[in-house]
Amino acid sequence: MDAPTPPRPLRLGVNIDLVATIRNARGGDHPDPARAAQIVAEAGGDGITVHLREDRRHIRDGDLARIQEMTGLPLNLEMAATDEMLAIALRHHPHGACIVPEKREERTTEGGLDAAGLHNQLAPIVGRLGEAGVRVSLFIAAEMRQLDAAMMLGVPVVEFHTGEYAHATGEARAAELARITEMAALAAKNGIEPHAGHGLTFENVQPIAAIPQLAELNIGHYLVGEAIFTGLEASICRMRKLMDEAR
Ligand code: PXP
Repeated sequence: MDAPTPPRPLRLGVNIDLVATIRNARGGDHPDPARAAQIVAEAGGDGITVHLREDRRHIRDGDLARIQEMTGLPLNLEMAATDEMLAIALRHHPHGACIVPEKREERTTEGGLDAAGLHNQLAPIVGRLGEAGVRVSLFIAAEMRQLDAAMMLGVPVVEFHTGEYAHATGEARAAELARITEMAALAAKNGIEPHAGHGLTFENVQPIAAIPQLAELNIGHYLVGEAIFTGLEASICRMRKLMDEAR
């Protein structure tokens, strides 16, 4: 029997929402996000991330089961902290659920979750998901107040929002990187597995990938955009290589 493959020190979760956005533009079933999920697996991705939004603008309910059936990769379901999404998560039982803030009018998840301000709304949802064996993560800014709130809620994972890092340049970017580095170390020290994501590209991924405590990066828009030019497999392989080189 083959020895099991050891887990990678830094996993790549590929967000395939935009494949569904393209499909939905014509109302048919092509391109199929479940086929994209299979390519992610073949290309060396470690997980599939999807965000089932309230307005179903990209991934839809029916995609979840198909993605789970068609790949053996762990599914990370990004979800708003609502009763509707909780029921869906409990029904589909993804490997992980990442609770994100959600506004209808935003183009993407623009900021982190206010875990501190929303403690009472989040606590029962985190509790129910945890009891069901779903690994809960909170998508938060790399701020002490938010990390403290995540600790109070007892989540096993936080994902730091790297959007500000990605959009900044020069000293501002260095300051964002320092903040994420410090918070990742603090999360790990307190028994929380730190992840990161949003706005990561071939150009900006390596300093983030080099943060030793980070266990997973979730990347979508750039990989799917780049796939238009090089194919999804090539785009994922290149990202994987850059991440591995940074470690
Ligand atoms: N992580 C979370 C929680 C997100 O909401 C998103 C965007 O949907 C990503 C990662 C990926 O961001 P991007 O598409 O910019 O790579």
